[in-house]
Amino acid sequence: MAEARKDAVVEELPRETSPEESNSALRIRQQEILAELGVLALQGTPFIELLNETARLTAEGLDTKFCKVLEYQPVEARFLVTAGVGWELEVIGKATVGADIESPAGYALKTGKPVISNHLENEQRFRTPELLARHGIKRAMNVILQGDGKPYGVLEADSRLEGEFSVKDISFLQGAANILGMAIERQRIEARLRAALDRNHLLLQEVNHRVNNSLALVASMLHLKAASVDETVRIHLDEASNRITAIARAHQRLYQTEQFEKIEIGPYLEDICQSLAGSLPDCVLHVDVKAGIAIPPDQAIPVALFVNELIANAAKYGSPDQRSEIWIGVVGDDREISVSVRDQGVGLPPDFEPGASRGLGMRLVNAFTSQLGGRLEIRRHDPGAEFILTFPRLDGRDAPGSRAV
Ligand SMILES: Nc1ncnc2c1ncn2[C@@H]1O[C@H](COP(=O)(O)OP(=O)(O)OP(=O)(O)O)[C@@H](O)[C@H]1O
Ligand SMILES: [Mg+2]
Repeated sequence: MAEARKDAVVEELPRETSPEESNSALRIRQQEILAELGVLALQGTPFIELLNETARLTAEGLDTKFCKVLEYQPVEARFLVTAGVGWELEVIGKATVGADIESPAGYALKTGKPVISNHLENEQRFRTPELLARHGIKRAMNVILQGDGKPYGVLEADSRLEGEFSVKDISFLQGAANILGMAIERQRIEARLRAALDRNHLLLQEVNHRVNNSLALVASMLHLKAASVDETVRIHLDEASNRITAIARAHQRLYQTEQFEKIEIGPYLEDICQSLAGSLPDCVLHVDVKAGIAIPPDQAIPVALFVNELIANAAKYGSPDQRSEIWIGVVGDDREISVSVRDQGVGLPPDFEPGASRGLGMRLVNAFTSQLGGRLEIRRHDPGAEFILTFPRLDGRDAPGSRAV
């Protein structure tokens, strides 16, 4: 686009152009370049690319081969050539130039004033930096690069041809530097935001780690106590411990996977079943979950607690004299998820009414079903029973009817 416009300008010029005409064509091109740079800066062009484009277009606007972006390095008190055109290959990203007030760039940085030096060899104010001398530079212009904060450095245009940079040229250079300065400021703000985001990420990870550790501690205390009480109390304490472990595992997954918005339900339920296997030695748990179903923690935790209660029941009312086999399955699409728990036990009592149970297990199962905005289906098998919970997927964070149980 820029090239096309440039060509158009060049083509419109008569073959023999007067100095005034070519000067005005250059001024028009300078205006276009400032507009192009503004667009590049606003588009969020990657920073280093923006520096290089600024150097390239600025050189073009000044009809010179040499331009560079100098970044001030406070520790060394020197400038690093971070981007540029016209220079030997090894200069960019490596060469440094003095930033003291006796160098043109240093002067521009220290005073904040634009500097034109059209006769470097006769210059009384500054010495000629070695890099410029080596490239045969005869004249230079420097303007400060500054956003709202500390100066970033200097934008410098150089030429090894006789001639003069004018006041209009330095206004153009300052215009380009102002646009770049704005982009630099934006880049600084973005870097600060990224650092804040990284810190929040770390804190969130730390919080999940601590919640997991604290819950695991409570669960293991209940479990320890269970060893010293009678059978009925032991069962209650172990069940309470298992519920707490199921919640702890969610927090463990959140900090381990570093994905705080979603939990993949398959590995999460496998974790829970693995922990349950310790307290249910007579049960074999089969987990069959479609891979890749990830849901918000607000849904994953009630699902896990739902499964936990049904496994506890299936184990309790399973085949009295044999090992109980329990199947946990999850299927789903982008609309709904179905979770099922099936056993081959004695089967549900004939008068079984899920809403009427006075046991904690079915009360929790009903509460989690309504918390998830789902529906519960109960199937009697021969032998055994199956509970299927179907609930809508959520993109947001809050499950419908979300409430404490
Ligand atoms: N998988 C199952 N197989 C056979 N019967 C079951 C099954 N699940 C539940 N039941 C029956 O439903 C009743 C209610 O279960 P619920 O979990 O609400 O209470 P509980 O297990 O008796 O007590 P709690 O859960 O408070 O320890 C049980 O007492 C049992 O008779
Ligand atoms: Mg129960």
